[in-house]
Amino acid sequence: MLIKKPSDIRPSEILDQKIYLTRREFIRNTVGATVAAALMPPLLAPHSVYAGTKLPGVRKGPFGTSEEPTPYGDVTSYNNFYEFGTEKEQPVIMAKNFRTKPWTVTVEGEVNKPAVYQLEDFIKPHTLEERIYRLRCVEAWSMVIPWVGIPLADIIKRFEPTSKAKYVEFTTLHDPAQMPGQRRAILKWTYVEGLRIDEAMHPLTMLAVGLYGETLPNQNGAPLRLVVPWKYGFKNIKSIVKIRFLEKPPVTAWMTAGPAEYGFYANVNPEVDHPRWSQARERRIGEFFKRKTLMFNGYAEQVAHLYAHMDLNKYF
Ligand code: MTE
Repeated sequence: MLIKKPSDIRPSEILDQKIYLTRREFIRNTVGATVAAALMPPLLAPHSVYAGTKLPGVRKGPFGTSEEPTPYGDVTSYNNFYEFGTEKEQPVIMAKNFRTKPWTVTVEGEVNKPAVYQLEDFIKPHTLEERIYRLRCVEAWSMVIPWVGIPLADIIKRFEPTSKAKYVEFTTLHDPAQMPGQRRAILKWTYVEGLRIDEAMHPLTMLAVGLYGETLPNQNGAPLRLVVPWKYGFKNIKSIVKIRFLEKPPVTAWMTAGPAEYGFYANVNPEVDHPRWSQARERRIGEFFKRKTLMFNGYAEQVAHLYAHMDLNKYF
């Protein structure tokens, strides 16, 4: 199986996080400047190299956590985006020249208004809001990310789903010429994810076009990605080109890759272990000690009712 279990993560990968700290943070976090200079990895690059474009007029949105956001350098350098490599440090390098303009999103299936939308028509700049959400990866690390985007519900309503629309399927771009990972059988491409329609319409669920007040860096899923904060990170599909409304649940890329390990719901749940490791604790990127994982990633008050009467051991 591909997603690395926590014990598969090499110490060098943890050390790699230091690469992503700014020079000053790095020195502050190490014993002294001399040691820092000796250890300074050659890869260290100024973060501005990958900076996006500032998004004007972003309002503060609801639901944000007051926890300290993970530094920009970590959020944009420690990524899972298998289309650009399976190592965390690869997407920032391999996705550098990924073309995200022009970009269209095809909307089809059980809707009255199917169409091919230009990204610009999809999300109007004046509607953008910032929401600081926790992201908990199935590999038992987590981050806090200030996303910029809009509630998915606002977009879905425009397409007028029919009464048969019970699920929503999302698909990432398939372009092996640009995405070297798609030239290898890492997953059964393309990357597909899905939500139940009530999950998709939930006010916490958003489509993001930016983070830290700027357009999304390519490695974080430019130009458009899903953010569902109470689910494991792999539900947060990147670089979306298609949204399809369905009567039946879609089969997601991870369900195909490992049905016993990755379920459709993928709700963060410290009480239901992954078959190969515990999900009870997590390492917040940048912290040394592990912390307890919270039910529904801390969003239980808002979302637990969606799963009342469901056996969460079965519907994992
Ligand atoms: N989307 C696509 N298309 N391909 C991927 O490999 N990885 C997922 C998710 N979305 C992935 C993806 C996983 S496992 C995680 S944890 C998050 O993206 C990571 O998002 P981030 O790199 O912005 O933190």
